[in-house]
Amino acid sequence: MSLLRLEGVTRSVELPDAPPLEILKGVDLEVSVGDHVSIVGRSGSGKSTLLNLLGMLDNPTSGSIYFDDVPLRSYGSGARDRKRGSDIGFIFQQFNLLGGRTALENVITPLLYATGSQFWKRRQIATTMLERMGLGERLNSMPEQLSGGEQQRVAIARALVRGPRLILADEPTGALDIDTGASVMALLDEVAEQSGAALITITHDANVAALARRHYRLDRGVLSEVDVNRVLALSSPEVTL
Ligand SMILES: Nc1ncnc2c1ncn2[C@@H]1O[C@H](COP(=O)(O)OP(=O)(O)OP(=O)(O)O)[C@@H](O)[C@H]1O
Ligand SMILES: [Mg+2]
Repeated sequence: MSLLRLEGVTRSVELPDAPPLEILKGVDLEVSVGDHVSIVGRSGSGKSTLLNLLGMLDNPTSGSIYFDDVPLRSYGSGARDRKRGSDIGFIFQQFNLLGGRTALENVITPLLYATGSQFWKRRQIATTMLERMGLGERLNSMPEQLSGGEQQRVAIARALVRGPRLILADEPTGALDIDTGASVMALLDEVAEQSGAALITITHDANVAALARRHYRLDRGVLSEVDVNRVLALSSPEVTL
């Protein structure tokens, strides 16, 4: 079943005294329920621009994006914000945790926008999620008291706590050492699979990308599907992306 579909998506920005800059060019992508897709690309290839479109944070210049086969352009901004809140979880390179709030308070935050039992049972749901991340002993720790790997596990708990159907991870291991990054990715993959969510990982790290089941490469705004061996070949120093 198609969860997210992009058809001929472009994104351009107007520049003063120059023709518009085409950041994304004719991007087609289909992501199904439970899929794990990676997108690799060098700096400036358009990864964050694409992620903002996938996460309903920005609109394409042309082309169409469908979520559950419904075109995003048919949503008003309120409906779109609600859809984003309930169905999409974001994980970022720099964790983006709220300072001065405990791990538990950080994970509760998305549930403040939920309704029904997700709202009323928010403390219990957030606690269970942190326990699943192996952080049951650190509920009341402040982000600055946690290691990088622990902070990213709090961020994953926060991204997953509303049971999103799509998880978007932008360089999720970029601030972690190799071993911590690998264990965080394994955990993310496992919880995404258990919850049946689709996971899109954007990364420049070929080893992280190789964990996905389908692989794409973004090259100067053009997205193409690539074989896993091609992804791994890109990690060897003599091959340039
Ligand atoms: N609002 C904007 N105005 C002008 N140029 C922009 C704008 N947004 C992005 N760009 C340019 O578009 C290109 C793609 O940017 P984007 O941030 O998507 O790259 P990226 O692949 O995420 O790079 P990185 O790996 O460094 O994060 C870059 O050359 C960037 O300078
Ligand atoms: Mg980026």
